[in-house]
Amino acid sequence: MSENIICLCKGISEEAIVKAIKEGATSIEAVKEKTEATTGPCKGSRCISKIEELIEKHK
Ligand code: FES
Repeated sequence: MSENIICLCKGISEEAIVKAIKEGATSIEAVKEKTEATTGPCKGSRCISKIEELIEKHK
């Protein structure tokens, strides 16, 4: 199965982000706590907008 990596710095997949959203992480802060997405060297500049889209889609 091919994985769509959302947070490139931390190698966090779309699947992992969506799972966190479905478990109630419906803000960037909450997704960050659950998955460590946005905590890489780019500090989320490459992934926050994609995570926001996923939250809108899956919350
Ligand atoms: S791509 Fe997510 S922190 Fe850099």
